[in-house]
Amino acid sequence: MDATGLRSAGGRGGSPGTGTGVIAGWGTALPPRVVTNRHLEAFLDTSDAWITERTGIRRRRVGGTTAELAAEAGRIAIAHAGLHPSDIDLVLLATTTPDRAVPATASEVQDRLGVRGGACDLNAACSGFVYGLVHAHGLLALGLRRVLVVGAETMSRIIDGTDRQTAVLFGDGAGAVVLEARDAPPTLLGWDLGSEGSAAGLLSAEIGGMLRMDGPEVFRRAVRTTVGSARVALERAGVRAEDLALVVPHQANLRIITAICERLGIPLERAATVLESTGNTSAASIPMALAAAADNGRLVDGDLVLLAGFGAGMSWASAVLRWLDPGRAQRTGTNGAPR
Ligand code: ACO
Repeated sequence: MDATGLRSAGGRGGSPGTGTGVIAGWGTALPPRVVTNRHLEAFLDTSDAWITERTGIRRRRVGGTTAELAAEAGRIAIAHAGLHPSDIDLVLLATTTPDRAVPATASEVQDRLGVRGGACDLNAACSGFVYGLVHAHGLLALGLRRVLVVGAETMSRIIDGTDRQTAVLFGDGAGAVVLEARDAPPTLLGWDLGSEGSAAGLLSAEIGGMLRMDGPEVFRRAVRTTVGSARVALERAGVRAEDLALVVPHQANLRIITAICERLGIPLERAATVLESTGNTSAASIPMALAAAADNGRLVDGDLVLLAGFGAGMSWASAVLRWLDPGRAQRTGTNGAPR
């Protein structure tokens, strides 16, 4: 019992912290079942050529539950950070496809991992992971020391298999990072979160229903809002687009990514993409692309990185990060002393 007479169940809180948030570990998870464009040709009026040319997607993974995928990605991220689940203060799960209406899917993820800190879901559609990462930085400033930020989706559960406009786009998967307080210079240099609720009808699913989308209008808005938001975040960070080492955009459509890069004046080669083999995995897409880039050696200490998400809401979220090699940024003890 604490002084208030309430039993502490292992939740974490604290007084304002001093560390800066460093991405200390990352992980991803994909279900085993692969659905290629050719598979879709068998029951939809579509073709591999159309899907590849109009979207850049060649295959996607389908299956599992959101909690299973999120827990697997989280388990890998925690191990990669050299931590134990008991070190995690909070699980923040960005998802559009929770397994149940109640409780939060993050609670099941917490249990599966053996995390003793708090857990909650966040729904900002495909912008959700960047929303979560910005929130996590704020929570570290309030005294938490390690937040597991996960983007996980089972989009296949809300896709109408007979709607060729959406059925070819989406897939299932998860990506996670551990954001840890370290004695290091600031890493979140600028950010921008937004939403235009009046446009929500362009991309929506009722509870228990299927996703409906006005594809061409979503396309136009995706380019416009992502470019506008990225420019705001870059300006707040005092960073020029040409100085970015990597852009990690939401993985919706290669043509959208190309248009965004063109308008921002960033060579397409600097964009991280995984959509060819994952499809659009909504909130999971940015952490999966970030993890792939990090695993492939595309990020080195000091690199400037732009994360840029957009999605239903219509929501958007951009963050300009300075990537710090987690092996170099010093870990801090509970009192701020190096550990
Ligand atoms: N296979 C074959 N033909 C198709 C398909 C398909 N799967 N889908 C549409 N078509 C046809 C249309 O019927 C149309 O035919 P018509 O010319 O005879 O009328 C033609 O292709 C062109 O259709 P458009 O809708 O104009 O095609 P577009 O080039 O815009 O591509 C797409 C459609 C891929 C959906 C595109 O609009 C898009 O990517 N939009 C953004 C979608 C998106 O990003 N959604 C997720 C947002 S993130 C989130 O929050 C979940």
